[in-house]
Amino acid sequence: MNFETRLNTLKQRKTFRQLNTVEHVSKKHITINEKTYINFTSNDYLGLAQLPINTNQLGNYFVDYGINYASSRLVSGNASLYQDVERLFCSHYPFEDCIITNSGYDANLAIFNIFKDQKIMVFSDARNHASIIDGIKLSGLSKQIYPHLDYDTLDEQLSHYPNSTKLIVTDSIFSTHGTMADLQRLTTLKKQHPNTHLMVDHAHGLGLGLYDTLEDIDILTASLSKALGTQGGIILCSNTVKQLLVNLARPIIYSSALPIFNLYQIERNLHYLHSQSYRATKLIQLSKHFNNLAEFKWGSHSRRTLSPIKYIEFEDFKAAETIYERLLTQNILASYFRYPTVEQPMLRISLSYFHNETDIQLLLNAMP
Ligand SMILES: Cc1ncc(COP(=O)(O)O)c(C=O)c1O
Repeated sequence: MNFETRLNTLKQRKTFRQLNTVEHVSKKHITINEKTYINFTSNDYLGLAQLPINTNQLGNYFVDYGINYASSRLVSGNASLYQDVERLFCSHYPFEDCIITNSGYDANLAIFNIFKDQKIMVFSDARNHASIIDGIKLSGLSKQIYPHLDYDTLDEQLSHYPNSTKLIVTDSIFSTHGTMADLQRLTTLKKQHPNTHLMVDHAHGLGLGLYDTLEDIDILTASLSKALGTQGGIILCSNTVKQLLVNLARPIIYSSALPIFNLYQIERNLHYLHSQSYRATKLIQLSKHFNNLAEFKWGSHSRRTLSPIKYIEFEDFKAAETIYERLLTQNILASYFRYPTVEQPMLRISLSYFHNETDIQLLLNAMP
Protein backbone atom coordinates (compact mmCIF):
# COMPACT_ATOMS: atom_id res chain seq x y z
CA MET A 1 0.00 0.00 0.00
CA ASN A 2 1.22 3.47 -0.87
CA PHE A 3 0.39 5.85 2.00
CA GLU A 4 0.59 9.00 -0.15
CA THR A 5 -1.78 7.59 -2.79
CA ARG A 6 -4.23 6.63 -0.06
CA LEU A 7 -4.15 10.16 1.34
CA ASN A 8 -4.57 11.68 -2.11
CA THR A 9 -7.64 9.52 -2.70
CA LEU A 10 -9.21 10.92 0.48
CA LYS A 11 -8.40 14.46 -0.67
CA GLN A 12 -9.90 13.85 -4.13
CA ARG A 13 -13.06 12.47 -2.55
CA LYS A 14 -13.25 15.58 -0.36
CA THR A 15 -13.31 13.36 2.71
CA PHE A 16 -9.84 14.27 3.98
CA ARG A 17 -9.87 15.41 7.62
CA GLN A 18 -7.34 17.22 9.78
CA LEU A 19 -6.88 17.73 13.50
CA ASN A 20 -7.36 21.34 14.59
CA THR A 21 -5.29 22.50 17.54
CA VAL A 22 -7.61 24.00 20.14
CA GLU A 23 -5.82 26.58 22.26
CA HIS A 24 -8.56 27.46 24.68
CA VAL A 25 -12.21 26.88 25.56
CA SER A 26 -14.05 29.33 27.79
CA LYS A 27 -17.80 29.00 28.16
CA LYS A 28 -19.28 29.43 24.65
CA HIS A 29 -15.97 30.51 23.09
CA ILE A 30 -13.30 28.37 21.49
CA THR A 31 -9.89 29.57 20.29
CA ILE A 32 -8.21 27.82 17.34
CA ASN A 33 -5.08 29.19 15.65
CA GLU A 34 -5.37 32.38 17.67
CA LYS A 35 -8.88 33.06 16.41
CA THR A 36 -11.86 32.93 18.77
CA TYR A 37 -15.27 31.62 17.65
CA ILE A 38 -18.69 31.06 19.16
CA ASN A 39 -18.56 27.34 19.65
CA PHE A 40 -21.47 25.32 18.25
CA THR A 41 -19.51 22.06 18.18
CA SER A 42 -19.23 20.96 21.81
CA ASN A 43 -21.16 18.11 23.42
CA ASP A 44 -20.73 19.79 26.80
CA TYR A 45 -24.44 20.59 26.56
CA LEU A 46 -24.88 21.67 30.17
CA GLY A 47 -21.52 23.34 30.73
CA LEU A 48 -20.50 20.78 33.36
CA ALA A 49 -17.12 20.13 31.71
CA GLN A 50 -16.22 23.67 32.71
CA LEU A 51 -17.12 23.49 36.38
CA PRO A 52 -14.23 25.00 38.36
CA ILE A 53 -11.87 22.60 40.06
CA ASN A 54 -11.98 22.66 43.85
CA THR A 55 -8.29 21.95 44.45
CA ASN A 56 -8.75 21.22 48.18
CA GLN A 57 -11.45 18.65 47.51
CA LEU A 58 -9.49 17.05 44.68
CA GLY A 59 -6.33 17.02 46.82
CA ASN A 60 -8.23 15.12 49.53
CA TYR A 61 -9.30 12.51 46.95
CA PHE A 62 -5.68 12.03 45.91
CA VAL A 63 -4.63 11.66 49.56
CA ASP A 64 -7.45 9.17 50.27
CA TYR A 65 -7.33 7.10 47.07
CA GLY A 66 -4.00 7.80 45.32
CA ILE A 67 -3.73 9.00 41.73
CA ASN A 68 -3.83 6.07 39.37
CA TYR A 69 -3.78 2.30 39.99
CA ALA A 70 -2.21 1.45 36.61
CA SER A 71 -4.09 -1.81 36.21
CA SER A 72 -7.27 -3.17 34.69
CA ARG A 73 -10.30 -3.40 36.97
CA LEU A 74 -10.14 -7.20 37.11
CA VAL A 75 -6.51 -7.19 38.20
CA SER A 76 -5.96 -4.42 40.77
CA GLY A 77 -7.44 -1.25 39.28
CA ASN A 78 -10.94 -1.52 40.76
CA ALA A 79 -10.74 1.54 43.07
CA SER A 80 -13.44 1.65 45.74
CA LEU A 81 -14.54 4.93 44.11
CA TYR A 82 -15.87 2.87 41.18
CA GLN A 83 -18.31 1.18 43.53
CA ASP A 84 -19.40 4.51 45.05
CA VAL A 85 -19.96 6.10 41.64
CA GLU A 86 -21.80 3.07 40.24
CA ARG A 87 -24.10 3.03 43.30
CA LEU A 88 -24.77 6.73 42.74
CA PHE A 89 -25.80 6.08 39.11
CA CYS A 90 -28.18 3.31 40.20
CA SER A 91 -29.80 5.69 42.70
CA HIS A 92 -30.66 8.06 39.83
CA TYR A 93 -31.66 5.63 37.06
CA PRO A 94 -34.12 2.71 37.08
CA PHE A 95 -31.58 -0.11 36.78
CA GLU A 96 -30.49 -2.75 39.27
CA ASP A 97 -26.80 -2.35 38.54
CA CYS A 98 -24.28 -0.70 36.27
CA ILE A 99 -20.64 -0.72 35.24
CA ILE A 100 -18.42 2.19 34.23
CA THR A 101 -16.24 1.77 31.14
CA ASN A 102 -13.40 3.91 29.79
CA SER A 103 -15.57 5.55 27.12
CA GLY A 104 -19.00 5.38 25.54
CA TYR A 105 -17.36 3.69 22.58
CA ASP A 106 -16.03 0.98 24.89
CA ALA A 107 -19.45 0.57 26.51
CA ASN A 108 -20.96 -0.31 23.13
CA LEU A 109 -18.12 -2.64 22.16
CA ALA A 110 -18.33 -4.31 25.58
CA ILE A 111 -22.05 -4.98 25.70
CA PHE A 112 -22.22 -6.96 22.44
CA ASN A 113 -19.47 -9.29 23.71
CA ILE A 114 -22.00 -10.92 26.06
CA PHE A 115 -24.10 -12.04 23.05
CA LYS A 116 -21.18 -13.51 21.10
CA ASP A 117 -21.80 -17.08 19.86
CA GLN A 118 -25.41 -16.95 21.10
CA LYS A 119 -28.36 -17.43 18.78
CA ILE A 120 -29.56 -13.86 18.66
CA MET A 121 -30.75 -11.47 15.92
CA VAL A 122 -29.94 -7.81 16.38
CA PHE A 123 -32.31 -5.16 14.97
CA SER A 124 -30.42 -1.89 14.57
CA ASP A 125 -31.58 1.59 13.45
CA ALA A 126 -29.87 2.65 10.20
CA ARG A 127 -28.46 5.76 11.85
CA ASN A 128 -27.07 4.14 15.00
CA HIS A 129 -23.68 5.35 16.15
CA ALA A 130 -20.47 3.83 14.73
CA SER A 131 -19.68 2.23 18.11
CA ILE A 132 -22.89 0.17 17.89
CA ILE A 133 -22.08 -0.86 14.32
CA ASP A 134 -18.53 -1.83 15.34
CA GLY A 135 -19.77 -3.63 18.47
CA ILE A 136 -22.18 -5.80 16.46
CA LYS A 137 -19.46 -6.55 13.89
CA LEU A 138 -16.71 -7.35 16.39
CA SER A 139 -18.95 -9.79 18.23
CA GLY A 140 -19.90 -11.44 14.92
CA LEU A 141 -23.65 -11.02 15.46
CA SER A 142 -26.34 -11.35 12.80
CA LYS A 143 -28.26 -8.16 12.21
CA GLN A 144 -31.20 -6.61 10.44
CA ILE A 145 -31.07 -2.87 9.78
CA TYR A 146 -34.38 -1.00 9.92
CA PRO A 147 -34.76 2.42 8.24
CA HIS A 148 -34.18 5.34 10.60
CA LEU A 149 -37.06 5.58 13.13
CA ASP A 150 -39.27 3.38 10.93
CA TYR A 151 -40.95 1.28 13.61
CA ASP A 152 -43.58 -0.23 11.27
CA THR A 153 -40.77 -1.84 9.30
CA LEU A 154 -39.08 -2.91 12.55
CA ASP A 155 -42.35 -4.49 13.70
CA GLU A 156 -42.53 -6.45 10.46
CA GLN A 157 -38.88 -7.51 10.68
CA LEU A 158 -39.36 -8.72 14.28
CA SER A 159 -42.38 -10.78 13.26
CA HIS A 160 -40.21 -12.81 10.87
CA TYR A 161 -38.23 -14.21 13.84
CA PRO A 162 -40.93 -15.46 16.25
CA ASN A 163 -38.78 -18.19 17.79
CA SER A 164 -35.45 -16.37 17.99
CA THR A 165 -34.01 -14.26 20.76
CA LYS A 166 -34.09 -10.68 19.50
CA LEU A 167 -32.28 -7.51 20.51
CA ILE A 168 -33.51 -4.08 19.38
CA VAL A 169 -30.71 -1.49 19.47
CA THR A 170 -31.14 2.23 19.07
CA ASP A 171 -29.58 5.55 19.97
CA SER A 172 -32.00 7.63 22.04
CA ILE A 173 -30.91 10.96 20.55
CA PHE A 174 -29.10 10.43 17.26
CA SER A 175 -25.69 12.05 17.36
CA THR A 176 -25.54 13.65 13.92
CA HIS A 177 -29.12 14.82 13.27
CA GLY A 178 -30.53 15.13 16.79
CA THR A 179 -33.55 13.00 15.88
CA MET A 180 -35.08 11.11 18.80
CA ALA A 181 -36.09 7.48 19.12
CA ASP A 182 -39.64 6.85 20.29
CA LEU A 183 -38.77 4.81 23.36
CA GLN A 184 -42.41 4.28 24.28
CA ARG A 185 -43.13 2.67 20.91
CA LEU A 186 -39.98 0.55 21.22
CA THR A 187 -40.89 -0.77 24.67
CA THR A 188 -44.35 -1.61 23.32
CA LEU A 189 -42.80 -3.51 20.38
CA LYS A 190 -40.50 -5.33 22.76
CA LYS A 191 -43.50 -6.50 24.79
CA GLN A 192 -45.47 -7.50 21.67
CA HIS A 193 -42.69 -9.73 20.33
CA PRO A 194 -41.69 -12.58 22.66
CA ASN A 195 -37.99 -13.04 23.56
CA THR A 196 -37.12 -9.47 22.65
CA HIS A 197 -34.67 -7.27 24.57
CA LEU A 198 -34.24 -3.52 24.17
CA MET A 199 -30.89 -1.75 24.33
CA VAL A 200 -30.65 2.05 24.14
CA ASP A 201 -27.53 4.15 23.65
CA HIS A 202 -28.32 7.25 25.70
CA ALA A 203 -25.01 9.04 24.97
CA HIS A 204 -26.63 12.30 23.87
CA GLY A 205 -29.67 12.01 26.13
CA LEU A 206 -28.16 11.40 29.56
CA GLY A 207 -29.01 14.29 31.86
CA LEU A 208 -31.06 16.35 29.40
CA GLY A 209 -34.50 15.34 30.68
CA LEU A 210 -35.99 14.84 27.23
CA TYR A 211 -37.57 11.47 28.04
CA ASP A 212 -40.21 11.03 30.76
CA THR A 213 -39.07 7.54 31.63
CA LEU A 214 -36.31 5.02 30.98
CA GLU A 215 -38.35 2.15 32.44
CA ASP A 216 -38.64 -1.15 30.53
CA ILE A 217 -35.27 -0.75 28.81
CA ASP A 218 -33.09 -3.81 29.42
CA ILE A 219 -29.70 -2.25 28.79
CA LEU A 220 -28.82 1.44 28.65
CA THR A 221 -25.35 2.48 27.53
CA ALA A 222 -24.08 6.06 27.59
CA SER A 223 -21.07 8.22 27.14
CA LEU A 224 -20.11 10.28 30.19
CA SER A 225 -18.36 12.84 28.00
CA LYS A 226 -21.41 14.63 26.63
CA ALA A 227 -23.85 16.35 29.03
CA LEU A 228 -21.98 14.97 32.06
CA GLY A 229 -18.84 16.73 30.84
CA THR A 230 -16.34 14.07 31.97
CA GLN A 231 -14.67 11.07 30.35
CA GLY A 232 -15.97 7.50 30.43
CA GLY A 233 -18.92 5.35 29.57
CA ILE A 234 -21.55 3.41 31.46
CA ILE A 235 -23.71 0.33 30.99
CA LEU A 236 -26.85 0.29 33.15
CA CYS A 237 -28.34 -3.20 33.35
CA SER A 238 -29.24 -6.08 35.67
CA ASN A 239 -26.72 -7.54 38.10
CA THR A 240 -26.59 -10.72 35.97
CA VAL A 241 -25.64 -8.73 32.87
CA LYS A 242 -22.98 -6.87 34.87
CA GLN A 243 -21.43 -10.17 35.95
CA LEU A 244 -21.44 -11.36 32.33
CA LEU A 245 -19.69 -8.14 31.32
CA VAL A 246 -16.99 -8.60 33.95
CA ASN A 247 -16.38 -12.09 32.57
CA LEU A 248 -16.78 -11.57 28.83
CA ALA A 249 -16.37 -7.92 27.83
CA ARG A 250 -12.95 -7.40 26.30
CA PRO A 251 -12.83 -3.58 26.65
CA ILE A 252 -13.39 -4.03 30.40
CA ILE A 253 -11.08 -7.01 30.87
CA TYR A 254 -8.15 -5.94 28.70
CA SER A 255 -7.83 -2.20 29.32
CA SER A 256 -6.55 -0.25 32.33
CA ALA A 257 -9.01 1.34 34.73
CA LEU A 258 -9.76 5.07 34.78
CA PRO A 259 -7.53 7.28 36.95
CA ILE A 260 -8.84 8.66 40.26
CA PHE A 261 -9.25 12.21 38.91
CA ASN A 262 -11.66 10.90 36.29
CA LEU A 263 -13.78 9.00 38.83
CA TYR A 264 -13.80 12.04 41.11
CA GLN A 265 -15.04 14.21 38.22
CA ILE A 266 -17.78 11.72 37.29
CA GLU A 267 -19.02 11.63 40.91
CA ARG A 268 -18.91 15.41 41.26
CA ASN A 269 -20.55 16.17 37.90
CA LEU A 270 -23.30 13.62 38.49
CA HIS A 271 -24.10 15.48 41.68
CA TYR A 272 -24.31 18.81 39.78
CA LEU A 273 -26.29 17.25 36.95
CA HIS A 274 -29.06 16.34 39.34
CA SER A 275 -28.88 19.34 41.67
CA GLN A 276 -28.75 22.02 38.95
CA SER A 277 -31.65 21.04 36.73
CA TYR A 278 -31.96 24.70 35.62
CA ARG A 279 -29.13 23.99 33.17
CA ALA A 280 -31.23 21.45 31.23
CA THR A 281 -34.30 23.71 31.48
CA LYS A 282 -32.40 26.59 29.86
CA LEU A 283 -31.07 24.29 27.13
CA ILE A 284 -34.59 23.13 26.24
CA GLN A 285 -35.69 26.79 26.02
CA LEU A 286 -32.80 27.52 23.63
CA SER A 287 -33.68 24.48 21.57
CA LYS A 288 -37.31 25.68 21.29
CA HIS A 289 -36.06 29.13 20.29
CA PHE A 290 -33.85 27.61 17.58
CA ASN A 291 -36.77 25.56 16.27
CA ASN A 292 -39.05 28.60 16.13
CA LEU A 293 -36.49 30.61 14.16
CA ALA A 294 -35.73 27.62 11.92
CA GLU A 295 -39.40 27.13 11.16
CA PHE A 296 -39.72 30.80 10.23
CA LYS A 297 -36.64 30.60 8.00
CA TRP A 298 -36.95 27.14 6.44
CA GLY A 299 -40.53 26.08 7.14
CA SER A 300 -41.73 23.18 9.29
CA HIS A 301 -39.86 19.91 9.46
CA SER A 302 -41.32 16.80 11.06
CA ARG A 303 -37.97 15.66 12.44
CA ARG A 304 -37.06 18.85 14.31
CA THR A 305 -36.80 17.84 17.98
CA LEU A 306 -36.08 19.45 21.33
CA SER A 307 -32.61 17.90 21.43
CA PRO A 308 -29.69 20.36 21.45
CA ILE A 309 -28.37 18.85 18.19
CA LYS A 310 -29.46 20.67 15.03
CA TYR A 311 -28.34 20.20 11.44
CA ILE A 312 -28.50 21.55 7.95
CA GLU A 313 -27.87 19.24 4.98
CA PHE A 314 -26.40 20.24 1.61
CA GLU A 315 -26.63 18.80 -1.87
CA ASP A 316 -22.86 18.74 -2.35
CA PHE A 317 -19.49 19.42 -0.67
CA LYS A 318 -19.10 22.79 -2.34
CA ALA A 319 -22.34 24.18 -0.90
CA ALA A 320 -21.51 22.82 2.57
CA GLU A 321 -17.96 24.19 2.48
CA THR A 322 -19.13 27.63 1.36
CA ILE A 323 -21.47 28.00 4.31
CA TYR A 324 -18.94 26.47 6.74
CA GLU A 325 -16.36 29.04 5.61
CA ARG A 326 -18.90 31.86 5.75
CA LEU A 327 -19.66 30.96 9.37
CA LEU A 328 -15.94 30.99 10.18
CA THR A 329 -15.56 34.51 8.79
CA GLN A 330 -18.35 35.53 11.16
CA ASN A 331 -16.55 33.89 14.10
CA ILE A 332 -18.97 30.99 14.31
CA LEU A 333 -17.77 27.40 14.50
CA ALA A 334 -20.08 24.52 13.49
CA SER A 335 -19.10 20.90 12.79
CA TYR A 336 -18.73 19.98 9.15
CA PHE A 337 -19.70 16.31 8.72
CA ARG A 338 -19.33 14.27 5.55
CA TYR A 339 -19.04 10.67 4.47
CA PRO A 340 -18.48 8.20 6.14
CA THR A 341 -19.92 9.90 9.26
CA VAL A 342 -23.06 10.86 7.32
CA GLU A 343 -24.37 10.14 3.82
CA GLN A 344 -24.91 13.76 2.79
CA PRO A 345 -22.61 16.71 3.61
CA MET A 346 -24.02 18.63 6.56
CA LEU A 347 -23.30 21.14 9.28
CA ARG A 348 -24.05 19.93 12.79
CA ILE A 349 -24.88 22.54 15.38
CA SER A 350 -24.89 21.75 19.07
CA LEU A 351 -26.47 24.17 21.48
CA SER A 352 -25.21 24.54 25.01
CA TYR A 353 -26.19 26.07 28.31
CA PHE A 354 -23.67 28.86 27.59
CA HIS A 355 -25.44 30.13 24.45
CA ASN A 356 -28.11 32.80 24.38
CA GLU A 357 -30.82 33.75 21.90
CA THR A 358 -28.59 36.34 20.20
CA ASP A 359 -26.00 33.64 19.42
CA ILE A 360 -28.69 31.55 17.75
CA GLN A 361 -29.95 34.53 15.77
CA LEU A 362 -26.40 35.27 14.56
CA LEU A 363 -25.96 31.65 13.50
CA LEU A 364 -29.22 31.50 11.57
CA ASN A 365 -28.60 34.86 9.92
CA ALA A 366 -25.39 33.44 8.47
CA MET A 367 -27.17 30.36 7.07
CA PRO A 368 -28.58 30.15 3.52
C1 LIG B 1 -24.45 7.86 20.17
C2 LIG B 1 -23.04 7.74 20.65
N1 LIG B 1 -22.67 6.62 21.28
C3 LIG B 1 -21.41 6.47 21.73
C4 LIG B 1 -20.46 7.45 21.56
C5 LIG B 1 -19.07 7.23 22.04
O1 LIG B 1 -18.88 7.91 23.26
P1 LIG B 1 -17.43 8.34 23.74
O2 LIG B 1 -17.13 9.62 23.06
O3 LIG B 1 -17.57 8.49 25.22
O4 LIG B 1 -16.50 7.25 23.35
C6 LIG B 1 -20.79 8.63 20.91
C7 LIG B 1 -19.77 9.67 20.72
O5 LIG B 1 -19.81 10.51 19.89
C8 LIG B 1 -22.11 8.78 20.43
O6 LIG B 1 -22.47 9.88 19.77
